Amino acid sequence: MTLKDAATAVRLNAYAPYSGFRVGAALRTPGGQVFAGCNVENVAYPEGTCAEAGAIAAMIAGGESRIAEIYVIADSPDPVPPCGGCRQKLAEFAGQDVVVTMATVAGFERTATVAELLPGAFGKGHMETT
Ligand code: THU
Repeated sequence: MTLKDAATAVRLNAYAPYSGFRVGAALRTPGGQVFAGCNVENVAYPEGTCAEAGAIAAMIAGGESRIAEIYVIADSPDPVPPCGGCRQKLAEFAGQDVVVTMATVAGFERTATVAELLPGAFGKGHMETT
């Protein structure tokens, strides 16, 4: 299954009654496994989770921890860039050169690398102490 197909399918399961904005994400691991997730909102708004976070959670639950590529799709005029929190989440599990494809249901796509989305990411090296 392509990441586009997986993200398109899972988007339809999104739980987004508050924003009405359904998002799907699908990622592939270096070994070729595909994991997908959708946004899950909550009446306590900050408790909602993004599609990217759902796909990452599915990946971790499936025993994998590296992202080789990721595809995000929403029904919007322009491709939706991941939120700041998801950029940091992506940086945790994806290399700087990993391509993030942002797509619209209408068929428009644009891409950016993880490094382009989050230059100067906070990383594990910052926690080394003397
Ligand atoms: N959302 C995602 O799931 N991924 C993104 O990349 C951007 C935003 C969700 C969060 C919320 O449920 C809705 O879209 C509106 O912000």
